[in-house]
Amino acid sequence: MEIIENVQFALEASEIQKSFPNGTETVEVLKGVNLQLRRGETVAIQGTSGSGKTTFLNIISGLEALDTGELYWNGIRIHGQSGATLAALRAEQVGMVFQAYYLLPELNVLDNVILAARLMGKATREDQDRARELLVRVGLEDRLHYSVEKLSGGERQRVAIARALLNRPKLILADEPTGNLDEETGDSVIELLLDVSREEGTSLILVTHNSVHAKKTDVRYRLHFGKLEIVEDES
Ligand SMILES: Nc1ncnc2c1ncn2[C@@H]1O[C@H](COP(=O)(O)OP(=O)(O)O)[C@@H](O)[C@H]1O
Ligand SMILES: [Mg+2]
Repeated sequence: MEIIENVQFALEASEIQKSFPNGTETVEVLKGVNLQLRRGETVAIQGTSGSGKTTFLNIISGLEALDTGELYWNGIRIHGQSGATLAALRAEQVGMVFQAYYLLPELNVLDNVILAARLMGKATREDQDRARELLVRVGLEDRLHYSVEKLSGGERQRVAIARALLNRPKLILADEPTGNLDEETGDSVIELLLDVSREEGTSLILVTHNSVHAKKTDVRYRLHFGKLEIVEDES
């Protein structure tokens, strides 16, 4: 594993380009996207549907390969790494939260969170204790042994947030985490996500259509015509 000198950044993405074939044409989705995230910084990414937000998150999580550009997590080179190395690094460095939660229905709440540790090897006693503590933190102390299928959408997203934090990642990526929630529940999930990210010193990228949520982060960006632009606060 190659360590570069400057590790003040939880994420450095430089000149990321990505195209998809579409019939005989090629669609250029990302045309040189740059983003640096300091340790503990929170940012929002807005943009119309189809502007490439999910593509960008998939690339910075290493789930999707970039065409050209450079990507570092916490100073570790990610572009060009093999699948197995990437999966191990991702489990350690990155937590992910999705609109559709992606919990395992056959596991209870506690085991869905502990699963994140098992992906890195065997879950230790410490992992189990941390899973419990995180579930208390997200307000689910009374639901530890519930089937996730019995939970509301907001509760499911709280489980997903606890799972994302279990391995003490440097970076959390959240792709429209309130997309399936009503407004009030969505607001409280975002408050929680920002509060726990700040408490844990984890950097956060929040992809959202909700400007009120976006304004709660340190920096707001918009993905527009394949580039990331800063959104200035109108005063
Ligand atoms: N695997 C793929 N193959 C072909 N086109 C894709 C693929 N993934 C995304 N796209 C296209 O890339 C564009 C951006 O999609 P996406 O990143 O999902 O946008 P957003 O999340 O901002 O709504 C869309 O035009 C979409 O159709
Ligand atoms: Mg999307």
